[in-house]
Amino acid sequence: MTAVIGPDFRPFYSARMAIYAARWRALMAENMIHRGSVALVLLVAVALLPACSSKSAADATPLAPPFLETPVAPRVAATSATVAKGKQVYDANCPQCHGTAGHGDGYGAPFLVPPPRDFTSGQFKFRTTASGSLPTDDDLFRTISRGANGTGMPPWKYLLSDEDRWALVDYVKTFYPRFVAATALKPMPLPEAPGRSRSADRGRQVYAKMQCEKCHGDDGRGVGPSSNAMVDSKGRHVNARDFTQPGSYRTGWTEREIIRTLETGMNGVPMPSYSGVMSKQEEYDLVAYLMSIAGPGSGNQKRQLARSMEGVGAPDRVIALREHAWKYEPSEIHVKRGEVVRIEFSTTDNGLGAGHGFALDGLDQSVFINGAMVGAPLSVTFKVDTPGRYKFYCATQCSTTELHPKMNGVLIVD
Ligand code: HEC
Ligand code: HEC
Repeated sequence: MTAVIGPDFRPFYSARMAIYAARWRALMAENMIHRGSVALVLLVAVALLPACSSKSAADATPLAPPFLETPVAPRVAATSATVAKGKQVYDANCPQCHGTAGHGDGYGAPFLVPPPRDFTSGQFKFRTTASGSLPTDDDLFRTISRGANGTGMPPWKYLLSDEDRWALVDYVKTFYPRFVAATALKPMPLPEAPGRSRSADRGRQVYAKMQCEKCHGDDGRGVGPSSNAMVDSKGRHVNARDFTQPGSYRTGWTEREIIRTLETGMNGVPMPSYSGVMSKQEEYDLVAYLMSIAGPGSGNQKRQLARSMEGVGAPDRVIALREHAWKYEPSEIHVKRGEVVRIEFSTTDNGLGAGHGFALDGLDQSVFINGAMVGAPLSVTFKVDTPGRYKFYCATQCSTTELHPKMNGVLIVD
C-alpha cells in the first residue's frame, strides 16, 4: 500500500485509513452494506479470463496501454436501447464505487484514494479535449477500457465486451445533462515534436521556470510546498504525481501522454493546463527531464508475486477463486488431505492499485499471492497434510478485517 502512495504520505495515509475504518464500522452497524447479487455478466466474463496466465514478477508488459494508444472499438450510435443496456451493465459493476446515481459515493468510496469520480460533477481528468471541456466519447471509452493506473479504477476491457463498454459510455453521460449539448467536442491538437532535439538539462530549467516543484517537489517526488493544501474541487486532499515512479503515471509513461496531460490539464484537481504557456521545445525538454528522473520498476504488475510450496509436483485439483466486491468467491473450499491443490486467483478490482492476494493461516510463509490484478491473475500450488480448518485471507492489503471484513474464507481439509 505504501508503494502506491509513496513513503512521504505514510503518516497522512494511516490517519486517513483510521477514519475510513471508523466509517466502515458505522456502515456495518447500520447494516447498509450491499449483499449484492453476483452479476451474471461478471460470472460469464470471468470465465473468459485467460486461464491462469500468471505473469512473473519480471514481466513488465503493462496491464493497461497508455491512454492515447488504447484501441477504440467501432460503435453503434447511442440510442435509448444502448443507454438501457449501459444502465444494466453499470448497475452490475460500478455502484460499489461510483454510487447508483453516479455521485462517486458507493459503499467502497471511503476506502479509495483517489476517490471514485462523481459523474454528476462533469469533471473528468483523462481527456484529449481542452482544459475545462468534457471528454469525448472515445476518451470515456479509453478510460473505461484501461482503467487508471495505481487507482481503484479497474481496466474493464478484461471483464466486459466492447459493446458493453460503449453502452457504459452512453449511460455514464446521462449523469451529467450538459453532455447532451456537447456535440462538438474535439481532441485538441498536440504540439509536434521538435525534430530529434530534446534536452533533459534544459528541461530541468523549464521545470523550475514553470514552478512545477510547488506541487511536484524540487526532486519530482510529488511533495512540494503546496502539497499539504492541495485539494480537489470537493475539498478532498489530492496527491501530486511522483515523477520518479513511472508506474504512478495514471495515463501511462510515454512522451506523448505526458505532453497530452500538460496540454489538457486535469479537470477538478489542481493540475493546470500549460497549453500555450511554453514553447514546443521547452515542453518536450521538460518531458525529457521528467522521463530522465524516473527510476525503474514501479508498475503495479511488478509488485505481483506468488509463492508456491516447493517440490509438491503437479496439482491433483485446480480451484478457481476470485475476489468480487471485496469478498472471496467461493469463501469455503474443500480439499482432501495430501492432495496437491492449485488455487487460481483472479480479481474484479485492483484494490487501491495494489491488487488483492491470498494467504493461508499456518502456511503463510510458504504459500501466498500478492498483487493479483484485473487481467493478471496469479496462482499457487500447495498441499496440506493435516486435516482441519484453515482460514485464508488477503495477503496484499485487506487482511485487516476492519478494512475488508469479507475478504476471508476457510479451506477445509478432510
Ligand atoms: C473499485 C472501484 C471502482 C469501480 C468498481 C469502478 N470505478 Fe471508475 N473510478 C474509480 C476511481 C478510484 C476513479 C478515479 C481515478 C482517478 O481519479 O485517477 C474512477 C474514475 C472513473 C472515470 C473517470 C475518468 C476521468 O477521466 O476522470 C470513469 C469514466 C469511470 N471511473 C467509469 C467507471 C465505470 C463505467 C465503472 C463500471 C464499469 C467503474 N468506473 C467502476 C474506481 C472504480
Ligand atoms: C498546482 C499544483 C500543480 C502544479 C503547479 C503542477 N502540477 Fe502536475 N499534477 C498536480 C496534481 C495534483 C496531479 C495529480 C492529479 C490527480 O491525478 O488527481 C498532477 C499530475 C501530473 C502528471 C500526471 C499525469 C498522469 O498520467 O498521471 C504530470 C505528468 C504532471 N502533473 C506534470 C506537471 C508538470 C510538468 C508541471 C509543471 C509544468 C506540473 N505538473 C505542475 C498538481 C500540479
